Amino acid sequence: MPAEKPYDEKMVLRMITWSVMFFLVGTFAGMLGRIAVSTPGFMENVTFYRIVTHHPLVLVVGWASLAVMAIVHFSMPLVSGKEIYSGITGKATMWLTIMSAAMLVMAMIPGLNGSTARYSALPPLFHPFFPTMLSLCIALTAVIFYGGNILKTFLSLPEDKTPHTSCWYFTMSAVLGTLFLGMAGVPLLLQSLAGLYQTDGLDYAWALDPLVNKHLIWWGLHSYVNQMINIAVLGMLYVAIPLNVKKGIYSEKGATWGLFLYIIVNNMAYFHHLLMDPLPMWQKVVGQVATWFLGLTTALSVYNLMKTASGGEKWGVPMKFIVAGLIGFVIEGSIGIFHSTLPVNIFAHNTQAILGYVHAVFYGYISMCLIGVLYTIVVHIKGSLYSEKLGNIHFWSTIFNLTGMVVVLLVAGYSGMPRNVQVIDPYYQPHMALATAFAVGLFASSAVGVYNLYMSANACTEKSGSGAAAPATA
Ligand code: HEM
Repeated sequence: MPAEKPYDEKMVLRMITWSVMFFLVGTFAGMLGRIAVSTPGFMENVTFYRIVTHHPLVLVVGWASLAVMAIVHFSMPLVSGKEIYSGITGKATMWLTIMSAAMLVMAMIPGLNGSTARYSALPPLFHPFFPTMLSLCIALTAVIFYGGNILKTFLSLPEDKTPHTSCWYFTMSAVLGTLFLGMAGVPLLLQSLAGLYQTDGLDYAWALDPLVNKHLIWWGLHSYVNQMINIAVLGMLYVAIPLNVKKGIYSEKGATWGLFLYIIVNNMAYFHHLLMDPLPMWQKVVGQVATWFLGLTTALSVYNLMKTASGGEKWGVPMKFIVAGLIGFVIEGSIGIFHSTLPVNIFAHNTQAILGYVHAVFYGYISMCLIGVLYTIVVHIKGSLYSEKLGNIHFWSTIFNLTGMVVVLLVAGYSGMPRNVQVIDPYYQPHMALATAFAVGLFASSAVGVYNLYMSANACTEKSGSGAAAPATA
Protein backbone atom coordinates (compact mmCIF):
# COMPACT_ATOMS: atom_id res chain seq x y z
CA MET A 1 0.00 0.00 0.00
CA PRO A 2 1.48 3.39 -0.91
CA ALA A 3 2.48 5.44 2.12
CA GLU A 4 0.14 8.31 1.22
CA LYS A 5 -2.85 5.94 1.41
CA PRO A 6 -2.56 4.34 4.84
CA TYR A 7 -6.10 2.92 4.65
CA ASP A 8 -7.01 -0.30 2.86
CA GLU A 9 -8.91 1.23 -0.05
CA LYS A 10 -10.28 -2.04 -1.37
CA MET A 11 -11.66 -3.10 2.00
CA VAL A 12 -13.16 0.34 2.71
CA LEU A 13 -14.94 0.40 -0.67
CA ARG A 14 -16.15 -3.17 -0.16
CA MET A 15 -17.57 -2.28 3.27
CA ILE A 16 -19.30 0.76 1.76
CA THR A 17 -20.78 -1.35 -1.03
CA TRP A 18 -22.18 -3.98 1.34
CA SER A 19 -23.48 -1.42 3.81
CA VAL A 20 -25.47 0.43 1.13
CA MET A 21 -26.85 -2.88 -0.14
CA PHE A 22 -28.19 -3.66 3.34
CA PHE A 23 -29.55 -0.11 3.48
CA LEU A 24 -31.53 -0.88 0.33
CA VAL A 25 -32.87 -4.20 1.60
CA GLY A 26 -33.64 -2.79 5.07
CA THR A 27 -35.56 0.23 3.78
CA PHE A 28 -37.42 -2.04 1.33
CA ALA A 29 -38.53 -4.18 4.28
CA GLY A 30 -39.59 -1.01 6.14
CA MET A 31 -41.67 0.03 3.16
CA LEU A 32 -43.36 -3.41 3.09
CA GLY A 33 -44.11 -3.04 6.80
CA ARG A 34 -45.73 0.36 6.21
CA ILE A 35 -47.81 -1.00 3.29
CA ALA A 36 -48.96 -3.87 5.50
CA VAL A 37 -50.26 -1.47 8.16
CA SER A 38 -52.27 0.61 5.68
CA THR A 39 -53.49 -2.23 3.41
CA PRO A 40 -55.52 -4.96 5.17
CA GLY A 41 -54.66 -8.45 3.91
CA PHE A 42 -51.39 -7.36 2.25
CA MET A 43 -49.44 -9.95 4.24
CA GLU A 44 -49.97 -12.51 6.98
CA ASN A 45 -49.76 -11.25 10.53
CA VAL A 46 -46.78 -13.48 11.37
CA THR A 47 -44.87 -12.23 8.29
CA PHE A 48 -45.59 -8.63 9.32
CA TYR A 49 -44.08 -9.21 12.77
CA ARG A 50 -41.11 -11.01 11.26
CA ILE A 51 -40.49 -8.05 8.95
CA VAL A 52 -40.85 -5.32 11.56
CA THR A 53 -38.60 -7.27 13.94
CA HIS A 54 -35.79 -7.70 11.41
CA HIS A 55 -36.08 -4.39 9.56
CA PRO A 56 -34.36 -2.47 12.41
CA LEU A 57 -31.87 -5.29 13.02
CA VAL A 58 -30.78 -5.43 9.35
CA LEU A 59 -30.41 -1.66 9.29
CA VAL A 60 -28.53 -1.38 12.57
CA VAL A 61 -26.15 -4.30 11.90
CA GLY A 62 -25.89 -4.35 8.09
CA TRP A 63 -26.20 -0.63 7.39
CA ALA A 64 -25.26 1.56 10.36
CA SER A 65 -22.59 -0.68 11.98
CA LEU A 66 -20.96 -1.66 8.72
CA ALA A 67 -20.97 1.95 7.49
CA VAL A 68 -19.40 3.05 10.81
CA MET A 69 -16.76 0.33 10.44
CA ALA A 70 -16.01 1.44 6.85
CA ILE A 71 -15.70 5.05 7.91
CA VAL A 72 -13.46 4.32 10.91
CA HIS A 73 -11.23 1.98 8.83
CA PHE A 74 -10.85 4.90 6.42
CA SER A 75 -10.67 7.89 8.77
CA MET A 76 -8.39 6.66 11.55
CA PRO A 77 -5.50 5.79 9.20
CA LEU A 78 -6.17 8.97 7.21
CA VAL A 79 -5.82 11.35 10.16
CA SER A 80 -3.08 9.45 11.98
CA GLY A 81 -1.06 8.32 8.94
CA LYS A 82 -0.94 4.81 10.50
CA GLU A 83 -2.55 1.67 9.15
CA ILE A 84 -5.23 -0.16 11.15
CA TYR A 85 -3.44 -2.50 13.60
CA SER A 86 -4.59 -5.76 12.03
CA GLY A 87 -5.82 -5.92 8.46
CA ILE A 88 -6.91 -9.54 8.87
CA THR A 89 -9.02 -8.68 11.91
CA GLY A 90 -10.54 -5.82 9.89
CA LYS A 91 -11.53 -8.25 7.15
CA ALA A 92 -12.87 -10.76 9.68
CA THR A 93 -14.95 -7.99 11.24
CA MET A 94 -16.34 -7.11 7.83
CA TRP A 95 -17.24 -10.65 6.76
CA LEU A 96 -18.76 -11.58 10.12
CA THR A 97 -20.95 -8.46 10.03
CA ILE A 98 -21.99 -9.20 6.45
CA MET A 99 -22.78 -12.81 7.37
CA SER A 100 -24.84 -11.71 10.36
CA ALA A 101 -26.80 -9.11 8.37
CA ALA A 102 -27.43 -11.59 5.53
CA MET A 103 -28.88 -14.05 8.06
CA LEU A 104 -31.07 -11.30 9.49
CA VAL A 105 -32.38 -10.66 5.98
CA MET A 106 -33.06 -14.39 5.55
CA ALA A 107 -34.89 -14.44 8.86
CA MET A 108 -37.66 -12.32 7.29
CA ILE A 109 -38.45 -15.03 4.76
CA PRO A 110 -41.59 -16.96 5.73
CA GLY A 111 -40.72 -20.52 6.76
CA LEU A 112 -37.21 -19.74 7.96
CA ASN A 113 -38.42 -19.23 11.49
CA GLY A 114 -36.96 -15.83 12.32
CA SER A 115 -38.10 -14.22 15.52
CA THR A 116 -41.41 -12.33 15.54
CA ALA A 117 -40.98 -10.64 18.90
CA ARG A 118 -38.87 -7.62 19.55
CA TYR A 119 -38.43 -6.13 22.99
CA SER A 120 -40.73 -8.68 24.60
CA ALA A 121 -39.61 -9.32 28.13
CA LEU A 122 -40.43 -13.01 28.29
CA PRO A 123 -40.40 -15.39 26.47
CA PRO A 124 -36.80 -14.69 25.58
CA LEU A 125 -36.23 -11.96 23.09
CA PHE A 126 -34.72 -13.91 20.26
CA HIS A 127 -36.49 -17.23 20.42
CA PRO A 128 -36.51 -19.41 18.30
CA PHE A 129 -32.79 -19.78 17.98
CA PHE A 130 -32.24 -19.85 14.23
CA PRO A 131 -31.55 -17.59 12.52
CA THR A 132 -32.13 -14.41 14.56
CA MET A 133 -30.26 -15.28 17.74
CA LEU A 134 -27.36 -16.90 15.92
CA SER A 135 -26.93 -13.92 13.62
CA LEU A 136 -26.86 -11.52 16.56
CA CYS A 137 -24.19 -13.65 18.25
CA ILE A 138 -22.12 -13.37 15.07
CA ALA A 139 -22.67 -9.60 15.02
CA LEU A 140 -21.52 -9.41 18.66
CA THR A 141 -18.37 -11.37 17.82
CA ALA A 142 -17.67 -8.96 14.96
CA VAL A 143 -18.06 -5.98 17.28
CA ILE A 144 -15.61 -7.55 19.77
CA PHE A 145 -13.02 -8.03 16.98
CA TYR A 146 -13.63 -4.48 15.82
CA GLY A 147 -13.36 -2.95 19.31
CA GLY A 148 -10.08 -4.78 20.02
CA ASN A 149 -8.59 -3.82 16.67
CA ILE A 150 -9.45 -0.13 16.98
CA LEU A 151 -8.13 -0.01 20.57
CA LYS A 152 -4.86 -1.66 19.48
CA THR A 153 -4.59 0.82 16.61
CA PHE A 154 -5.07 3.72 19.00
CA LEU A 155 -2.48 2.34 21.44
CA SER A 156 0.06 1.95 18.66
CA LEU A 157 -0.20 5.57 17.48
CA PRO A 158 3.12 7.47 17.72
CA GLU A 159 3.63 8.64 21.32
CA ASP A 160 5.28 11.91 20.39
CA LYS A 161 2.17 13.18 18.53
CA THR A 162 -1.17 14.13 20.11
CA PRO A 163 -3.81 11.92 18.49
CA HIS A 164 -6.36 13.66 16.24
CA THR A 165 -9.62 14.42 18.12
CA SER A 166 -11.56 11.93 16.02
CA CYS A 167 -9.22 9.09 17.06
CA TRP A 168 -10.45 9.58 20.65
CA TYR A 169 -14.04 9.43 19.44
CA PHE A 170 -13.46 6.28 17.36
CA THR A 171 -11.63 4.51 20.16
CA MET A 172 -14.15 5.43 22.86
CA SER A 173 -17.03 4.41 20.60
CA ALA A 174 -15.44 1.06 19.73
CA VAL A 175 -14.36 0.22 23.28
CA LEU A 176 -17.50 1.39 25.10
CA GLY A 177 -19.77 -0.03 22.39
CA THR A 178 -18.09 -3.45 22.68
CA LEU A 179 -18.00 -3.41 26.46
CA PHE A 180 -21.59 -2.43 27.01
CA LEU A 181 -22.98 -4.59 24.24
CA GLY A 182 -21.07 -7.55 25.68
CA MET A 183 -22.26 -6.84 29.22
CA ALA A 184 -25.90 -6.75 28.07
CA GLY A 185 -25.60 -9.30 25.26
CA VAL A 186 -24.04 -12.18 27.17
CA PRO A 187 -26.74 -12.39 29.91
CA LEU A 188 -29.41 -12.04 27.19
CA LEU A 189 -27.78 -14.87 25.27
CA LEU A 190 -27.75 -17.06 28.38
CA GLN A 191 -31.38 -16.26 28.93
CA SER A 192 -32.28 -17.19 25.37
CA LEU A 193 -30.37 -20.45 25.71
CA ALA A 194 -32.31 -21.18 28.88
CA GLY A 195 -35.47 -20.61 26.87
CA LEU A 196 -34.28 -22.76 24.00
CA TYR A 197 -33.43 -25.75 26.14
CA GLN A 198 -36.49 -25.58 28.36
CA THR A 199 -38.13 -28.89 29.03
CA ASP A 200 -41.73 -29.60 29.94
CA GLY A 201 -42.54 -28.41 33.40
CA LEU A 202 -39.35 -26.37 33.69
CA ASP A 203 -40.17 -22.75 33.10
CA TYR A 204 -37.29 -20.66 31.88
CA ALA A 205 -38.67 -17.65 33.75
CA TRP A 206 -36.19 -18.62 36.47
CA ALA A 207 -33.39 -17.47 34.23
CA LEU A 208 -34.08 -13.78 34.62
CA ASP A 209 -36.64 -11.48 36.05
CA PRO A 210 -38.64 -9.72 33.25
CA LEU A 211 -37.70 -6.28 34.55
CA VAL A 212 -34.01 -7.19 34.69
CA ASN A 213 -34.40 -8.50 31.14
CA LYS A 214 -35.90 -5.20 30.03
CA HIS A 215 -33.10 -3.25 31.74
CA LEU A 216 -30.54 -5.36 29.88
CA ILE A 217 -32.25 -4.94 26.53
CA TRP A 218 -32.51 -1.18 26.81
CA TRP A 219 -29.13 -0.69 28.43
CA GLY A 220 -27.54 -2.75 25.65
CA LEU A 221 -29.50 -1.15 22.80
CA HIS A 222 -29.15 2.38 24.11
CA SER A 223 -25.42 1.97 24.74
CA TYR A 224 -24.82 0.36 21.38
CA VAL A 225 -26.66 3.00 19.39
CA ASN A 226 -25.47 5.95 21.45
CA GLN A 227 -21.88 4.84 21.94
CA MET A 228 -20.78 2.52 19.16
CA ILE A 229 -22.79 4.45 16.52
CA ASN A 230 -23.40 7.97 17.81
CA ILE A 231 -19.95 8.74 19.24
CA ALA A 232 -18.40 7.33 16.06
CA VAL A 233 -20.72 9.51 13.92
CA LEU A 234 -19.59 12.64 15.79
CA GLY A 235 -15.95 11.54 15.45
CA MET A 236 -16.28 11.00 11.72
CA LEU A 237 -17.87 14.43 11.27
CA TYR A 238 -14.70 15.94 12.77
CA VAL A 239 -12.88 14.32 9.82
CA ALA A 240 -15.42 14.70 7.02
CA ILE A 241 -16.37 18.35 7.53
CA PRO A 242 -12.76 19.61 7.43
CA LEU A 243 -12.14 17.42 4.35
CA ASN A 244 -15.13 18.98 2.58
CA VAL A 245 -14.76 22.63 3.53
CA LYS A 246 -10.94 22.53 3.56
CA LYS A 247 -10.48 24.11 6.97
CA GLY A 248 -9.69 22.92 10.49
CA ILE A 249 -11.90 22.04 13.46
CA TYR A 250 -13.36 25.19 15.09
CA SER A 251 -12.57 24.17 18.69
CA GLU A 252 -10.52 21.10 19.64
CA LYS A 253 -11.30 21.78 23.30
CA GLY A 254 -15.04 21.89 22.55
CA ALA A 255 -14.75 18.55 20.77
CA THR A 256 -12.96 16.95 23.75
CA TRP A 257 -15.50 18.31 26.26
CA GLY A 258 -18.34 17.24 23.97
CA LEU A 259 -17.08 13.65 24.11
CA PHE A 260 -16.38 13.59 27.84
CA LEU A 261 -19.74 15.08 28.90
CA TYR A 262 -21.65 12.94 26.41
CA ILE A 263 -20.23 9.70 27.82
CA ILE A 264 -21.15 10.70 31.38
CA VAL A 265 -24.77 11.70 30.78
CA ASN A 266 -25.51 9.16 28.08
CA ASN A 267 -24.99 6.19 30.36
CA MET A 268 -27.52 7.52 32.84
CA ALA A 269 -30.14 8.35 30.23
CA TYR A 270 -31.24 4.82 29.25
CA PHE A 271 -33.79 4.72 32.11
CA HIS A 272 -35.96 6.94 29.86
CA HIS A 273 -36.97 3.78 27.96
CA LEU A 274 -38.51 2.37 31.12
CA LEU A 275 -40.51 5.30 32.44
CA MET A 276 -43.77 3.31 32.28
CA ASP A 277 -42.28 0.32 34.13
CA PRO A 278 -42.25 -0.20 37.89
CA LEU A 279 -38.87 1.47 38.47
CA PRO A 280 -37.90 3.23 41.70
CA MET A 281 -38.67 6.95 41.35
CA TRP A 282 -34.96 7.93 41.57
CA GLN A 283 -34.24 5.96 38.38
CA LYS A 284 -37.07 7.73 36.53
CA VAL A 285 -35.77 11.11 37.70
CA VAL A 286 -32.19 10.24 36.68
CA GLY A 287 -33.48 9.08 33.26
CA GLN A 288 -35.33 12.36 32.68
CA VAL A 289 -32.65 14.72 33.96
CA ALA A 290 -29.79 12.92 32.14
CA THR A 291 -31.80 13.17 28.91
CA TRP A 292 -32.22 16.92 29.38
CA PHE A 293 -28.45 17.20 29.85
CA LEU A 294 -27.96 15.20 26.65
CA GLY A 295 -29.59 18.22 25.00
CA LEU A 296 -26.74 20.41 26.26
CA THR A 297 -24.01 18.07 25.00
CA THR A 298 -25.83 17.85 21.64
CA ALA A 299 -25.92 21.65 21.44
CA LEU A 300 -22.18 21.84 22.20
CA SER A 301 -21.27 19.32 19.47
CA VAL A 302 -23.64 20.80 16.88
CA TYR A 303 -22.34 24.34 17.52
CA ASN A 304 -18.72 23.23 17.16
CA LEU A 305 -19.40 21.21 14.01
CA MET A 306 -21.50 23.96 12.37
CA LYS A 307 -18.82 26.56 13.12
CA THR A 308 -16.32 24.18 11.51
CA ALA A 309 -18.62 23.79 8.50
CA SER A 310 -19.16 27.50 7.94
CA GLY A 311 -16.84 29.90 6.17
CA GLY A 312 -14.96 27.29 4.15
CA GLU A 313 -15.53 25.91 0.65
CA LYS A 314 -19.05 25.78 -0.84
CA TRP A 315 -21.17 22.84 0.31
CA GLY A 316 -21.59 20.04 -2.22
CA VAL A 317 -23.77 16.91 -1.92
CA PRO A 318 -21.76 15.36 0.98
CA MET A 319 -22.00 18.54 3.07
CA LYS A 320 -25.71 18.93 2.35
CA PHE A 321 -26.33 15.51 3.90
CA ILE A 322 -24.03 16.23 6.84
CA VAL A 323 -25.63 19.60 7.66
CA ALA A 324 -29.14 18.12 7.27
CA GLY A 325 -28.01 15.32 9.61
CA LEU A 326 -26.89 17.88 12.20
CA ILE A 327 -30.25 19.66 11.93
CA GLY A 328 -31.83 16.20 12.30
CA PHE A 329 -29.72 15.75 15.47
CA VAL A 330 -31.24 18.90 16.98
CA ILE A 331 -34.78 17.90 15.95
CA GLU A 332 -34.56 14.32 17.21
CA GLY A 333 -32.88 15.53 20.41
CA SER A 334 -35.76 17.94 21.03
CA ILE A 335 -38.38 15.24 20.39
CA GLY A 336 -36.40 12.84 22.63
CA ILE A 337 -36.31 15.34 25.50
CA PHE A 338 -40.04 15.98 25.05
CA HIS A 339 -40.88 12.25 25.09
CA SER A 340 -38.73 11.40 28.07
CA THR A 341 -40.50 13.93 30.25
CA LEU A 342 -42.86 11.90 32.44
CA PRO A 343 -46.22 13.62 31.72
CA VAL A 344 -45.54 13.39 27.96
CA ASN A 345 -44.28 9.82 28.16
CA ILE A 346 -47.63 8.79 29.64
CA PHE A 347 -49.42 9.54 26.34
CA ALA A 348 -46.55 9.09 23.84
CA HIS A 349 -45.25 5.73 25.13
CA ASN A 350 -45.72 2.81 22.75
CA THR A 351 -47.53 4.90 20.14
CA GLN A 352 -46.69 5.68 16.51
CA ALA A 353 -45.03 8.84 17.85
CA ILE A 354 -42.14 6.62 18.98
CA LEU A 355 -41.76 5.45 15.38
CA GLY A 356 -41.73 9.10 14.28
CA TYR A 357 -38.97 9.76 16.80
CA VAL A 358 -37.03 6.57 15.94
CA HIS A 359 -36.92 7.52 12.26
CA ALA A 360 -35.92 11.09 13.09
CA VAL A 361 -32.95 9.57 14.99
CA PHE A 362 -31.98 6.70 12.72
CA TYR A 363 -32.73 8.27 9.38
CA GLY A 364 -32.88 12.03 9.98
CA TYR A 365 -29.72 12.16 12.05
CA ILE A 366 -27.62 8.98 11.90
CA SER A 367 -28.28 7.82 8.34
CA MET A 368 -28.08 11.35 6.88
CA CYS A 369 -24.67 11.86 8.53
CA LEU A 370 -23.47 8.41 7.47
CA ILE A 371 -24.58 9.03 3.88
CA GLY A 372 -22.81 12.41 3.89
CA VAL A 373 -19.60 10.85 5.20
CA LEU A 374 -19.79 7.94 2.72
CA TYR A 375 -20.21 10.45 -0.12
CA THR A 376 -17.18 12.32 1.30
CA ILE A 377 -15.09 9.14 1.28
CA VAL A 378 -15.95 8.09 -2.26
CA VAL A 379 -15.23 11.60 -3.50
CA HIS A 380 -11.90 11.56 -1.63
CA ILE A 381 -10.91 8.17 -3.04
CA LYS A 382 -12.35 8.42 -6.54
CA GLY A 383 -12.11 12.15 -7.12
CA SER A 384 -15.80 12.77 -7.83
CA LEU A 385 -19.31 11.39 -7.44
CA TYR A 386 -20.83 9.19 -10.11
CA SER A 387 -23.56 11.82 -10.50
CA GLU A 388 -23.86 15.17 -8.72
CA LYS A 389 -27.38 15.51 -10.16
CA LEU A 390 -28.52 12.17 -8.70
CA GLY A 391 -26.91 13.26 -5.41
CA ASN A 392 -29.09 16.38 -5.35
CA ILE A 393 -32.23 14.40 -6.30
CA HIS A 394 -31.36 11.93 -3.55
CA PHE A 395 -30.96 14.75 -1.04
CA TRP A 396 -34.13 16.75 -1.71
CA SER A 397 -36.41 13.74 -2.17
CA THR A 398 -35.13 12.26 1.11
CA ILE A 399 -35.78 15.51 2.96
CA PHE A 400 -39.32 15.73 1.56
CA ASN A 401 -40.37 12.11 2.19
CA LEU A 402 -38.63 11.69 5.52
CA THR A 403 -40.10 14.90 6.95
CA GLY A 404 -43.54 13.81 5.74
CA MET A 405 -43.27 10.32 7.24
CA VAL A 406 -41.96 11.55 10.60
CA VAL A 407 -44.61 14.27 10.95
CA VAL A 408 -47.48 11.92 10.08
CA LEU A 409 -46.27 9.28 12.54
CA LEU A 410 -45.92 11.88 15.31
CA VAL A 411 -49.45 13.18 14.64
CA ALA A 412 -50.91 9.63 14.57
CA GLY A 413 -49.08 8.80 17.81
CA TYR A 414 -50.15 11.95 19.65
CA SER A 415 -53.72 11.15 18.56
CA GLY A 416 -53.38 7.82 20.33
CA MET A 417 -52.52 5.24 17.67
CA PRO A 418 -50.40 2.39 19.13
CA ARG A 419 -47.22 1.19 17.41
CA ASN A 420 -46.31 -2.32 16.35
CA VAL A 421 -49.85 -3.23 15.26
CA GLN A 422 -51.02 -4.39 11.87
CA VAL A 423 -54.77 -4.17 12.42
CA ILE A 424 -55.77 -0.56 13.02
CA ASP A 425 -58.74 1.56 14.06
CA PRO A 426 -60.36 3.00 10.85
CA TYR A 427 -59.88 6.50 12.31
CA TYR A 428 -56.14 6.17 11.59
CA GLN A 429 -56.55 4.86 8.04
CA PRO A 430 -55.82 8.29 6.42
CA HIS A 431 -52.73 8.74 8.63
CA MET A 432 -51.40 5.34 7.69
CA ALA A 433 -52.17 5.77 3.98
CA LEU A 434 -50.24 9.04 4.00
CA ALA A 435 -47.35 7.48 5.97
CA THR A 436 -47.22 4.68 3.38
CA ALA A 437 -47.10 7.18 0.50
CA PHE A 438 -44.13 8.93 2.13
CA ALA A 439 -42.54 5.55 2.92
CA VAL A 440 -42.71 4.49 -0.73
CA GLY A 441 -41.18 7.85 -1.70
CA LEU A 442 -38.49 7.45 0.96
CA PHE A 443 -37.59 3.99 -0.29
CA ALA A 444 -37.35 5.35 -3.86
CA SER A 445 -35.07 8.20 -2.66
CA SER A 446 -32.93 5.71 -0.74
CA ALA A 447 -32.64 3.54 -3.86
CA VAL A 448 -31.42 6.53 -5.90
CA GLY A 449 -28.78 7.22 -3.24
CA VAL A 450 -27.68 3.58 -3.06
CA TYR A 451 -27.29 3.50 -6.84
CA ASN A 452 -25.23 6.70 -6.82
CA LEU A 453 -23.03 5.54 -3.94
CA TYR A 454 -22.60 2.08 -5.44
CA MET A 455 -21.61 3.50 -8.81
CA SER A 456 -19.34 6.11 -7.22
CA ALA A 457 -17.55 3.42 -5.20
CA ASN A 458 -17.34 0.81 -7.93
CA ALA A 459 -17.66 2.34 -11.36
CA CYS A 460 -16.00 5.77 -11.27
CA THR A 461 -12.54 6.07 -12.71
CA GLU A 462 -9.99 7.51 -10.31
CA LYS A 463 -9.60 11.18 -11.10
CA SER A 464 -7.89 13.00 -8.30
CA GLY A 465 -8.18 10.89 -5.15
CA SER A 466 -5.15 11.72 -3.09
CA GLY A 467 -5.63 9.86 0.16
CA ALA A 468 -3.81 12.76 1.76
CA ALA A 469 -4.41 13.69 5.38
CA ALA A 470 -7.36 15.81 6.52
CA PRO A 471 -6.82 19.33 7.84
CA ALA A 472 -6.77 18.82 11.58
CA THR A 473 -6.99 22.01 13.57
CA ALA A 474 -8.01 25.61 13.10
C1 HEM B 1 -37.87 3.80 3.69
C2 HEM B 1 -37.45 3.97 4.92
C3 HEM B 1 -38.09 3.31 6.13
C4 HEM B 1 -39.38 2.86 6.31
C5 HEM B 1 -40.53 2.92 5.35
C6 HEM B 1 -39.45 2.29 7.64
C7 HEM B 1 -40.58 1.67 8.20
C8 HEM B 1 -40.63 1.08 9.44
C9 HEM B 1 -41.75 0.32 9.96
C10 HEM B 1 -43.02 -0.02 9.20
C11 HEM B 1 -41.45 -0.05 11.24
C12 HEM B 1 -42.29 -0.89 12.20
C13 HEM B 1 -43.48 -0.16 12.66
C14 HEM B 1 -44.23 -0.82 13.78
O1 HEM B 1 -43.64 -1.55 14.57
O2 HEM B 1 -45.45 -0.57 13.88
C15 HEM B 1 -40.14 0.49 11.53
C16 HEM B 1 -39.50 0.35 12.74
C17 HEM B 1 -38.18 0.72 12.94
N1 HEM B 1 -37.30 1.25 12.01
FE1 HEM B 1 -37.77 1.84 10.12
N2 HEM B 1 -38.23 2.41 8.23
C18 HEM B 1 -37.36 3.03 7.33
C19 HEM B 1 -36.02 3.31 7.53
C20 HEM B 1 -35.31 3.01 8.67
C21 HEM B 1 -33.89 3.20 8.84
C22 HEM B 1 -32.94 3.73 7.77
C23 HEM B 1 -33.59 2.79 10.10
C24 HEM B 1 -32.24 2.70 10.81
C25 HEM B 1 -31.07 3.05 10.34
C26 HEM B 1 -34.82 2.34 10.73
C27 HEM B 1 -34.93 1.88 12.03
C28 HEM B 1 -36.08 1.43 12.61
C29 HEM B 1 -36.17 1.02 13.99
C30 HEM B 1 -35.04 1.04 15.02
C31 HEM B 1 -37.49 0.57 14.20
C32 HEM B 1 -38.06 -0.01 15.47
C33 HEM B 1 -38.90 1.01 16.18
C34 HEM B 1 -39.52 0.45 17.43
O3 HEM B 1 -38.87 0.48 18.45
O4 HEM B 1 -40.64 -0.02 17.40
N3 HEM B 1 -35.84 2.48 9.84
N4 HEM B 1 -39.67 1.15 10.41
